[in-house]
Amino acid sequence: MKGVILAGGLGTRLSPLTKITNKHLLPIYNKPMIFYPIQTLVDAGVRDLLIVTGGNNAGDFLRLLGNGSAFHLPHINYTYQEGEGGIADALRLAEHFADGEKIVVMLGDNVIEKDIRAGVAAFRKQKRGARVYVKQVANPRAYGVAEMRGDRIVGIVEKPARPKSNLAVIGIYMYDPSVFEIIHTLKPSGRGELEITDVNNAYIKRGQLAFDVLDGWWADAGASHEKLLETSLLVAQREGVSFSVSRGKA
Ligand code: DAU
Repeated sequence: MKGVILAGGLGTRLSPLTKITNKHLLPIYNKPMIFYPIQTLVDAGVRDLLIVTGGNNAGDFLRLLGNGSAFHLPHINYTYQEGEGGIADALRLAEHFADGEKIVVMLGDNVIEKDIRAGVAAFRKQKRGARVYVKQVANPRAYGVAEMRGDRIVGIVEKPARPKSNLAVIGIYMYDPSVFEIIHTLKPSGRGELEITDVNNAYIKRGQLAFDVLDGWWADAGASHEKLLETSLLVAQREGVSFSVSRGKA
């Protein structure tokens, strides 16, 4: 299966940090943010990767990642998103790369504690359709939120004012090749973007959306300055680093 990492967009929520660089190049503990989703896909056995980026600092991805030697990859593919047309608009650029194969897509600002091996293995066996991950969260209004009926997802609402559950659909999505037909039918949302939630709802309408509950913590590192800091602390803790904040001591 091929992998796509979406690292476009302007990252304005992290301004002024993102005035001079791309959000996905900012540090999370001791590595640039983009390292974490790449490692997640590589650990799941996905070795053919496309990075979709954009903005003024796209060239820095090449300088940072090159052909992927830090991940023991022989090669990495790159493409460029003009403007900030949304997550599904960025994914549209992967059609040529996917070349009729199934893909696993990860948002470049999502970091997880554990791994997605089981979900990817299940999707390899899934004949058609899509597969997403959900995770219980304290503030569902910030995410795409799943509406459940029994053990099925019957709808997803993007950043709902009144969430129907506390299950966020996180930024890891697995799709069969029909995802690109779906993207071509999408219309921009109220915020002027092609929404990944609309893609997932199209699969729900077809009765073809499977899901898993993510094990371990999940962080949307790019959502705010607080999330950026919190994600660094979570990763450092996972790496076994012990730290305490003491005032006035070197
Ligand atoms: O993190 C999970 C959430 O991500 C989901 O629960 C939501 O359903 C989904 O819409 C998304 O919400 P966000 O508001 O967090 O998306 P954001 O605009 O931060 O974009 C997430 C990543 O997608 C970003 O790190 C880079 C990529 N992206 C985004 C846009 C808007 C692009 O590559 N191009 C774009 O135009």
